[in-house]
Amino acid sequence: MNQEKVIVIDFGGQYNQLVARRVRECNVYCEIYSYKTDLEQIKAMNPKGIILTGGPNSCYEADSATCSKELFELGIPVLGLCYGAQLMMHVLGGKVEKAPVREYGKTEVVVDTTSPLFQNVSDHTICWMSHFDYISKVADGFRTVAHTADCPVAAAEDQRRNLYAIQFHPEVLHTEEGTKMLRNFVINVCGCAGIWKMDAFVENSVKAIREKVGNGKVLCALSGGVDSSVAAVMMAKAIGDQLTCVFVDHGLLRKNEGDEVEAVFGPDGPYNLNFIRVNAQERFYSKLAGVEEPEKKRKIIGEEFIRVFEEEAKKIGAVDFLVQGTIYPDVVESGLGGESAVIKSHHNVGGLPSCVDFKEIIEPLRDLFKDEVRKAGLELGIPEYLVFRQPFPGPGLGIRIIGEVTAEKVRIVQDADAIYREEVANAGYDKSIGQYFAALTNMRSVGVMGDERTYDYAVALRAVNTIDFMTAEAAEIPFEVLQKVMSRIINEVKGVNRVMYDLTSKPPGTIEFE
Ligand code: XMP
Repeated sequence: MNQEKVIVIDFGGQYNQLVARRVRECNVYCEIYSYKTDLEQIKAMNPKGIILTGGPNSCYEADSATCSKELFELGIPVLGLCYGAQLMMHVLGGKVEKAPVREYGKTEVVVDTTSPLFQNVSDHTICWMSHFDYISKVADGFRTVAHTADCPVAAAEDQRRNLYAIQFHPEVLHTEEGTKMLRNFVINVCGCAGIWKMDAFVENSVKAIREKVGNGKVLCALSGGVDSSVAAVMMAKAIGDQLTCVFVDHGLLRKNEGDEVEAVFGPDGPYNLNFIRVNAQERFYSKLAGVEEPEKKRKIIGEEFIRVFEEEAKKIGAVDFLVQGTIYPDVVESGLGGESAVIKSHHNVGGLPSCVDFKEIIEPLRDLFKDEVRKAGLELGIPEYLVFRQPFPGPGLGIRIIGEVTAEKVRIVQDADAIYREEVANAGYDKSIGQYFAALTNMRSVGVMGDERTYDYAVALRAVNTIDFMTAEAAEIPFEVLQKVMSRIINEVKGVNRVMYDLTSKPPGTIEFE
């Protein structure tokens, strides 16, 4: 199905997913593999191109992540980025050493526009640099095609062997013409046709699901979020009545959300999903009592989810498959793809208990990035207001309450969040902000209200703009709006006497607090 594929070989760089994301923007299917992947396996995938990512090492040190010389002799075009570029030079006989000055941030790069990589790129262009080492001598056969004031080899090429090396990061949006450069590589150099489109993905997935499931029964975990909704509707389209959707209200949803989900996906809504709602609030709260550590909470919530499904499955008879709305960033960030360190174990991947009572798990969105899931949703005819819903994490408010989760804290964060969302929508910012929510910090502080001393919780407001949820910046919400939210939360939500606005970008922060 994905005959035309580019693979990204991950050396542990923080932007590995972005590289894949940008390649897919060129309508070329792309997957991430660890640098430890066997050369034979790479050959068997028959990729049209290979991209080597950045990474934290120095390629000239003994135990650094590396690749074999043969990788460059397969006749497949290779593009090395940052560490990948240095490694290419190192392995092929060039020289890489510690740079006299570290280059970091937006930097003007002078490029040779006769290089296929820089076709239609301006000859002076702003790029994102982040490196300690630099290429001091290119390998034989290469010529330098870009430089900066401090970096003599910002890019090099060997057109004869189709090998390209770029010291900066074209995948990061700060590199103003980066997407153009990547497009030049995958389309012009690798010769990809760029025909990977969502309608074909949906059609092929529906077909593949039908074949895989046969006459089997399928149980789908529906949370009402974008991912599981798209997964459920895709499954329904593929196998109709063989599907049962179970919606677990774990008591960690936003205010009134359980009823809203039921209204859309339940028997009175437009879909036929055999919808079952399980109200399991108390069960989750008691499991979470006394637990403070975020990863532990995620695991508990994930495991409890599975337990509830097992019980439901037993009630409805034998079930062969369980559907989950896992998406590609979950897979990579859970350390299952590529080389990334485990940042957070997303509950639908990392938290799966070992003894699952189903034959198999189906993850129809496992290969998609978030915005691709939305495109798939539209393709399936799901209304825009659902498809463009802001994401909500599987563990829900469990990871928006820092520290121990209690019913009382859930009530506080639900009420504060409802006020925040209402005011942001009233001010007309709800569609333009990528994700925004209230979280309950674990901090209590002294305040004064009506001449009385208070000792209550601090609520943190978070709002970020992001394209892919891998990097994000705090959204600029007008101060009057924030002030109104603050005053309403303090007045209307018992137990809160302080409201803060989180300015942290990602990185170094994450979007959620835990
Ligand atoms: P972070 O906090 O990692 O969030 O910057 C990136 C995106 O992922 C969502 N998120 C999760 N989703 N289970 C999920 O299903 C989780 O454990 C989880 N943690 C974060 C977060 O809401 C944001 O959209």
